[in-house]
Amino acid sequence: MPRNLKPLGALVGKGNLMPKKTRQHDTIVVLDYGSQYSQLIARRVREANVYCELYSWRTQPETIMALNPKGFILSGGPNSVYDEGAPTLPSYVLDSGVPVLGICYGMQLLAYRLGGTVGHSQKREYGPATLKIDETDNLLFQNWQLSDELDANGKHFQQVWMSHGDKVEALAPGFHPIAHSGNSPFAAAVDPERHYYSVQFHPEVVHTPQGKVVLENFVRQICGCQPDWTPANFIEEQVVEIRQQVGDGRVVLGLSGGVDSAVAAGLLHKAIGEQLVCIFVDHGMLRKNEALQVIETFGREQGMNLIAVNAVEEYLEALDGITEPERKRKIIGEKFVRIFEREANKLGKIDFLAQGTIYPDVIESAGKDKKDAHVIKTHHNVGGLPDDMDFELVEPLSLLFKDEVRRIGTELGLPDSIIWRQPFPGPGLAIRCLGEITWERLETLREADDIFVEELRKATMLKHGTQQSFAVLLPVKSVGVMGDNRTYQEVIALRAVTTEDFMTADWARLPYDLLAHVSRRIVNEVPGVNRVVLDITSKPPGTIEWE
Ligand code: XMP
Repeated sequence: MPRNLKPLGALVGKGNLMPKKTRQHDTIVVLDYGSQYSQLIARRVREANVYCELYSWRTQPETIMALNPKGFILSGGPNSVYDEGAPTLPSYVLDSGVPVLGICYGMQLLAYRLGGTVGHSQKREYGPATLKIDETDNLLFQNWQLSDELDANGKHFQQVWMSHGDKVEALAPGFHPIAHSGNSPFAAAVDPERHYYSVQFHPEVVHTPQGKVVLENFVRQICGCQPDWTPANFIEEQVVEIRQQVGDGRVVLGLSGGVDSAVAAGLLHKAIGEQLVCIFVDHGMLRKNEALQVIETFGREQGMNLIAVNAVEEYLEALDGITEPERKRKIIGEKFVRIFEREANKLGKIDFLAQGTIYPDVIESAGKDKKDAHVIKTHHNVGGLPDDMDFELVEPLSLLFKDEVRRIGTELGLPDSIIWRQPFPGPGLAIRCLGEITWERLETLREADDIFVEELRKATMLKHGTQQSFAVLLPVKSVGVMGDNRTYQEVIALRAVTTEDFMTADWARLPYDLLAHVSRRIVNEVPGVNRVVLDITSKPPGTIEWE
């Protein structure tokens, strides 16, 4: 078997490399106790330009202490400290002598461990709560913008987000309260001697509008971290690192048109120019004009070595008569590997395979504590790397969250149309074209989708009203009437969601007039469609895609 044939399963899977970085940044470690918001904490810290990594609370102390953390944040989690086998606070955290911030379960854990009392409750407090800051000059609350709203006693109050069952009932020795809420006398507490901070509310979520300030104060003022985690620094460091890793070798990268592979390509191109070859496989299931845009942007504008493969016929043939979604996914994934291999083999000697793996993929494949987390996200495209891999992997984005990838892309000069595009599944329109996949049905879907997206853009809804929005073609025909004729045609479903992280989502409340206009245009302009419906299901229990 030619050596190029071996590793390509990786292209539909994700790497399992732990991130590495050249320069030593001041580092904050978030210990994950299974909250669905744990990644958000790390993102917020990074937004304050401070480097931060997320690890399970079970991680070996040596791994964590090798990072030389300047502070720890203990996340929330679904457990009670009294549960049998409940996650614990490892001693090295307290022994390290650096500041610690406990959030929700993290707060309870700190209290429990240090001699306070946690009250057990069956009832959860979930949702917005009113915070009263008692020690406004505490470092944790510096720059907290007091809202204009006043309570019945004429005092300012602040909205925070609570999500807990148990709560601290007696603080540990050395702690005193610095904020309270109606339900929690200890909504925030501090031990100033030992630099231990704790909050019952969730500063990381958007429903705590000033929460970012709390996290920023903790990492910058209290832990003293330098704000040197910036796009420009990252690019500079990665360019050096990529050049070191690759030397004068050649790198091949599968360009999908999505943000991650695009930014990985941009970064590699900056570092090694002509040594990078990008392969773009057009499987015919992209959105309208997408293939052209990829070729235009990467080949012409960015001047990259780009091989564009038109594999539409091949895919349609392989998918002929297939209606079952998992089969569609499988066929598309396998075909991609084969086509990629074929093209890569034509290139002669290739030494490295680059992938747009990002930090959340690394965290998930590195064995995040599924036992503790209430896992909501289903894993798409995760295949893992084959053991007999021959190529060395280059994964320059493996330290980054999605929003950071976008910032790097912008800094690299990639167009907004690529950087800000919505997530698009690897198998593309195949999973939005329910039932049989034919070129005609794909074209129908493409046209309807294009109208929807164009109207959303015109109404500035793409930026502000929805994070993901698309059309779905249903395998259902229904009767309609057009002019004097009865019609018997297919149905388009419109799906638009608002979401922070794509793990949970709500349906976007789009204006009726906009929906009416989109529906009118689709039925009038797209042949074969006589009915448009709107999906008003949240996730859970629904999913974002239909399939
Ligand atoms: P669901 O439908 O599970 O989707 O709510 C959550 C997010 O994942 C995207 N998605 C995929 N992404 N390959 C991908 O790369 C896939 O097969 C796939 N299926 C769903 C989906 O668009 C949404 O953003």
